[in-house]
Amino acid sequence: MTFDRSIKIAPSILSADFANFGAECRAIEQQGCDWVHVDVMDGHFVPNLTFGPPLVAAIRPHVKTVMDVHLMIAPTDAFLAPFAEAGADRLTVHVEASDHLDRTVSAIADLGCKAGLALNPATPETEIEYLLDKIDLVCVMTVNPGFGGQSFLHSQLEKIRRLRAMIGDRPVHIEIDGGVTPETAPLVVAAGADVLVAGSAVFKGGSVDTPDVYGRNMAAIRDAIN
Ligand code: DX5
Ligand code: ZN
Repeated sequence: MTFDRSIKIAPSILSADFANFGAECRAIEQQGCDWVHVDVMDGHFVPNLTFGPPLVAAIRPHVKTVMDVHLMIAPTDAFLAPFAEAGADRLTVHVEASDHLDRTVSAIADLGCKAGLALNPATPETEIEYLLDKIDLVCVMTVNPGFGGQSFLHSQLEKIRRLRAMIGDRPVHIEIDGGVTPETAPLVVAAGADVLVAGSAVFKGGSVDTPDVYGRNMAAIRDAIN
């Protein structure tokens, strides 16, 4: 089966209504998102605290596409199984959060999840050089992790280009996370990205009662790329 590198939009529920996660997941999927991005934060690796495995389990029945769990936690390994058992399809860990990345990536695969590695803005792409044949995704942070609604870091475009060259025809997604809007999406796609995480750009101005706004916001990103 050929690797699907078509452009995907993965709304981050960090920007969703925290009192309505199930309905919000159903709404963005009905409006055409490709994946659902779940931002897990521990208040230690990043200066914010969100949710854990119980939230993943609670929204699992409402997510029919792909649950893309972004673990902004350290240490990582003790929580891999709980998130996998809760229903995560993909587990992405930060290279800065594990002392034994090869072992962490193998542990994710052993749990039956797709393994992703995330790079903070200051982390060079060479950090993942020896894991390119073991991972399914590289997440380039285009903001400093911890919050939605931040400004896009254009310095990361060169990293995306270098990653695209490093990956070659390996079946590895390049995911962009932070500050993705109709203005920045074309830049990252031109540099080689294929998965676009977007929180505020998707959820802004909408609600579970007005989900068509989500659809229009995603269409604006897709139109900007095409
Ligand atoms: C930041 C998270 C991002 C964030 C994206 O730490 O990893 O996924 O929610 O939000 P926007 O798209 O608003 O920058
Ligand atoms: Zn994220």
